[in-house]
Amino acid sequence: MKKKVVSLLVAAMTVASLTACGGSDAPAANQEPAPAPAEKQEAEPASAEKQEAEPAPAESQAETPAPAADGEVISVGFAQVGHESDWRAANTKNYQDTFSAENGYELSFVDCDNDHAVQIETVRGFIEQELDYICIAPIQSAGWDTVLQEAKDAGIPVLIVDRAVDADPSLYTTALGCDMVAEGEAAGNWLAEYLNGEDANILVIEGSVGASATLGRTEGFNNIVAQNSNWKVLDSQSGDFTQAGGQEVMESFIKSYSDFNVVVCQNDNEAYGAMDAMDAAGITYGVDGDVTIISFDATHDGLQYTLDGKITCNVECNPLQAGFAEGVIKKLQAGESVDAWTLVVDEAFVAPGITSNYAITMTQEVLDGRAY
Ligand code: AHR
Repeated sequence: MKKKVVSLLVAAMTVASLTACGGSDAPAANQEPAPAPAEKQEAEPASAEKQEAEPAPAESQAETPAPAADGEVISVGFAQVGHESDWRAANTKNYQDTFSAENGYELSFVDCDNDHAVQIETVRGFIEQELDYICIAPIQSAGWDTVLQEAKDAGIPVLIVDRAVDADPSLYTTALGCDMVAEGEAAGNWLAEYLNGEDANILVIEGSVGASATLGRTEGFNNIVAQNSNWKVLDSQSGDFTQAGGQEVMESFIKSYSDFNVVVCQNDNEAYGAMDAMDAAGITYGVDGDVTIISFDATHDGLQYTLDGKITCNVECNPLQAGFAEGVIKKLQAGESVDAWTLVVDEAFVAPGITSNYAITMTQEVLDGRAY
């Protein structure tokens, strides 16, 4: 049975009230300048964007695109982060399926291989090609002002997808994705409930440096750490959202720390690597082990490990986001305004035998219903 997912849904309701679905108070986002938000962070100097970088070749998804209903083929460029995780593979497939020739799109897809400079040059390439729309899943949040200004000057609507940028929102059309801070807080709130006052010696395997997914999950989790005086974060290192990275960081943690009872992995692939490292070192984990593992993403395999009791809590980050991007594009095609921000809502899952106010208890049925 579905449990109440308090923190994520509170965040969802807060943001949903700013979106079209929830009745919008948010300003319509378009290419017109809008005031910068009060808490806008400084972006990296423009020089950071000027590194030489060869854009990876775009894979056109449509040799002979079928026209949209009104006969117009819509060209969309997607500057994707890379292929670092199962989550990313599901997200890429979702975009390729949605923006297909059959659906009336010509998708130029570029895997930027986790290289910020390549991603900037990829976007420049899309601008030069005068594509109708540009979607960017930003590898890092800083360093976007210059190229976003170039897209705006060219009159090309930009959708910031999945992760966020530290840039003036007037430079892009809309943003959509999950609330990474809420995800981190959900993990922390669940842990507090689970430990019920017990001490925690925590090791964190972070995602890629500078990515908003990393920054947000870290911030959110640390918000809850600050409320628990008997919790200690012993160390926090980047595993780059990869299985190899997770394994390497965990191996080094094992050499440095002997007394830990919680490992937080900021995505499922890192958790797989961390489990390999703990298996090799003879450290037990999971509901019956010495170490509690928290993961993020809740992909199919991650939830299988949760069902098996190896990952005790898995906080979702939903990769099926292309439909939201297509919804924005359809509105813009129709001359309608779009919201500044659309939240993709997440849930959290816990191993069988655990009941939680913050997460759904895993069952085979939940796993079978997983589309990614
Ligand atoms: O931005 C989403 C994150 O990026 C996912 O958690 C991770 O798996 C991916 O690489």
